Amino acid sequence: MYKNLLVTGGSGFIGANFIRYLLEESDFSGRIINVDNLTYAGNPDNLTGTDENFPEKYKFIKADICDKEEVTKIFTEYQIDSVCHFAAESHVDRSIVKPDTFIQTNIVGTFNLLDVARSHIDSIKLFHHVSTDEVFGSLGAEGFFTEETSYKPNSPYASSKASSDHLARAYYKTYNLPITISNCSNNYGPYQFPEKMIPLMILNAIEGESLPVYGDGLHVRDWLYVRDHCTAVWMIMKKGIHGETYNVGGNNELENLKLVKMICEILDDNKKLPDNRPRRELIKFVKDRPGHDRRYAIDFSKLKNTLGWSPEESFESGIKKTIQWYLQNTNWTDRIKSGEYLTWVKEHYGT
Ligand code: NAD
Ligand code: TYD
Repeated sequence: MYKNLLVTGGSGFIGANFIRYLLEESDFSGRIINVDNLTYAGNPDNLTGTDENFPEKYKFIKADICDKEEVTKIFTEYQIDSVCHFAAESHVDRSIVKPDTFIQTNIVGTFNLLDVARSHIDSIKLFHHVSTDEVFGSLGAEGFFTEETSYKPNSPYASSKASSDHLARAYYKTYNLPITISNCSNNYGPYQFPEKMIPLMILNAIEGESLPVYGDGLHVRDWLYVRDHCTAVWMIMKKGIHGETYNVGGNNELENLKLVKMICEILDDNKKLPDNRPRRELIKFVKDRPGHDRRYAIDFSKLKNTLGWSPEESFESGIKKTIQWYLQNTNWTDRIKSGEYLTWVKEHYGT
């Protein structure tokens, strides 16, 4: 179906899981060209073994999606016929401190890809744009985001993603570029950079370091195991209708504080801290994030009813698998911890 699939941001958390899923588990039979410029969040370790195991089906190119000339060369040289676009600056806290790169990568980078795809419109079968539920803003105690919910992004990250969604839509409406868009809730799982809530809490809790919960800890996220996001994206790519957007969610709403306590309990059951203290005592309430969205919750009935997708992983099983992965893959985390991550944490938390 797709012979030469360009995956952008394939060395990041979800992109790497997606490439592994396509090559190792799915019915995808073409070749993947992974374009990633390896920012702090892009990690070649996330795809260890892929080159060797799939020499004919996988190619990595270090390139910036903001470099239009380079993107054009890649489209021509590799005869790109489909795109799955993950590349983005993705961390809300960073977008608050320094929005500039979010505007460049998320808006200008997406525009470049769309525009190069437009110039190859005769050969492009699909451009799938991966986005977030954060474009919809914040919910109160009731209700869910549907595909009809109006956009009300509250952070520079969310507004840059909203902008990229609008560009993707416009390229379908104006130029008839075959577009699909997905808006997904918070992901967790293997290979997630430990600036995001779940891996940060797991790694700090393993080490007996403090667990910084923003504000009152009663903010709610709808958590989805990353492999379920990958199956949803691939299903949309195969069966989705051009011009349509699809919400993807986990049906797993949890308050942050409850989630952190759950991680503490699983780790305590696994191995107690040297001083036998329960890990929940490591929880430290810290200053809230400015513009912090109170609640996200996704109604994914369109994806379920029209394409037949549902998540497979329960939150309980997914979080246990994830914790096991971080416990077992200490080489991966040690390398990250010795790098830029520490500088960021120091700057951000002053510790
Ligand atoms: P990530 O930050 O882990 O990875 C992003 C990847 O993009 C990295 O490999 C990075 O090197 C690459 N990249 C960044 N700027 C680039 C550029 N200019 N050129 C080329 N590559 C570049 O992000 P993630 O969590 O894997 O998210 C992937 C996508 O999914 C994003 O578009 C994000 O908005 C969306 N999304 C994420 C979540 C989530 O919970 N993580 C939920 C919904 C949607
Ligand atoms: P995060 O993983 O940054 O995802 P997002 O902001 O995109 O939802 O954060 C998830 C939730 O956890 C969010 O409500 C902010 C909160 N949070 C903390 O309480 N402490 C932390 O150290 C981090 C990183 C997040």
